[in-house]
Amino acid sequence: MKKYALILAAGKGTRMKTELPKCAFPILKKPMIEYIVENLEKTSIDETVVIVGHKKEVLMDLLGDRVTYAYQEEQLGTGHAILSALPVLENKKGITFILPGDMPLMEYPLMDKILRAHQEMGNDLTIVSMKMEYPKGYGRIVRDEYGEVLGIVEENDCNETQKLIKEVNSSVYVVDNELLCHYAKKIERNVRKGEYYLTDIVALMHQERKVNTFIVRDPRVTMGINDLYGIGVAEKYLRDAINKGHMLSGVSIINPETVTIGHNVIIEEGVWIYPNSTLMGNTVIKHHATIGPNSEIVDSVIEPYAEIKHSIVSNSKVGSYTTVGPFAHLRDGAIIGEHNRIGNFVEVKKSTTGNDTKAAHLSYIGDATLGDRVNFGCGAITVNYDGVNKHQTVVGHDVFIGCNVNLIAPIKVEDNVFIAAGSTVTEDIPKGALAIARNKQINKEDYAKNLIQAKEKVNK
Ligand code: UD1
Ligand code: CA
Repeated sequence: MKKYALILAAGKGTRMKTELPKCAFPILKKPMIEYIVENLEKTSIDETVVIVGHKKEVLMDLLGDRVTYAYQEEQLGTGHAILSALPVLENKKGITFILPGDMPLMEYPLMDKILRAHQEMGNDLTIVSMKMEYPKGYGRIVRDEYGEVLGIVEENDCNETQKLIKEVNSSVYVVDNELLCHYAKKIERNVRKGEYYLTDIVALMHQERKVNTFIVRDPRVTMGINDLYGIGVAEKYLRDAINKGHMLSGVSIINPETVTIGHNVIIEEGVWIYPNSTLMGNTVIKHHATIGPNSEIVDSVIEPYAEIKHSIVSNSKVGSYTTVGPFAHLRDGAIIGEHNRIGNFVEVKKSTTGNDTKAAHLSYIGDATLGDRVNFGCGAITVNYDGVNKHQTVVGHDVFIGCNVNLIAPIKVEDNVFIAAGSTVTEDIPKGALAIARNKQINKEDYAKNLIQAKEKVNK
């Protein structure tokens, strides 16, 4: 039997108060709809149809040709959305798995379980419901005294007794496709809101067809996101789930509520993560590295036993046993070797360092290649930008760069060089040389005394 998935994603998401259409809004940097489509791709579904409308280009750009589209020009409600999908679904045999585009937390094993249950029970329509302590905002599942489902009543249309019902509609359904097409056309406009409610299909079907519910145990995974607070709740759920996964695989996370880890981050056993740290993108943290506190790592590789404290590392690589921070910034292809020390207030951009190299305080290293055992003194910098172009600095092995040295690029410093503190170096330095590029000091003897006498004369 052919299985279709139908995602309702045409709505405006007015309650979000954001520019982006709701179903494209990201949670942990991933658009909501992406979660749903990704999970569906892992189920037994044959074809996914997404109903788009409001700002449809945004969703279509995100999903490309991974799905089929139906277009709902005017958003007249969830029932009306189904009618707009008829050109794609009509006259097709099979079952249709309906999902709202604002429910990103359901994962594929549960999706498959729901599809199986529908078939095993021989239902024509399965409504996925959940029990909520605070059901506000959800449609209530109304049953008769025998427990048979009679219909779904939206919050606005509930009487006082119905408002107390804790079993609510998740907006996920499995339904025989031909029956869906047939009954969707019978849905009438809701008088109060002027919309066509898909939920009304239940009342239409229950007398003539087999209608049942599938009750989801954890209502968090079927929560609908309607506003930015909902985004926050979903993000917290995901953060906990991701952190738990890492902790169970041997990663120590201190104060995990303050640690955010993206979906694609790989963390090996024995890693420690301290509070207020964020790890995003295609980041890999190798075994026994330490991250944080207060650090942000994006699209970077941190090798074993490296330590990053109070620092930002993006698009970079940190070698094993290297320490970074506090307050360092590695970016745009900083490739740091092993046993380095990148210390306080040091920025490294698009540069490579060898092993055992140090820039411990207040340095800028940009567009540079440093060899092994280089000591980049406090306050020393590469002067890589002439106002128009960026230039390269190349430093060999065993080079000692004194404090406050300016290396005016392009420049090449050979192995075993010493550069005197305070030098502004403009010429290449040959192997083994000591470079001093600063004015010779002049001591004017007795000058201080003269100055005081001169002052006294003026004051008389
Ligand atoms: C809906 C259900 C409610 C359920 C809740 C679960 C209806 C009438 N109500 O309410 O019973 O408890 O979900 O979260 O179905 N959409 C369209 N076209 C439209 C209107 C909406 O595609 O014309 C899409 C939206 O983009 C959204 C989804 O349908 O992804 C649900 O719409 P929403 O307005 O969020 O419905 P709720 O009020 O949450
Ligand atoms: Ca909703």
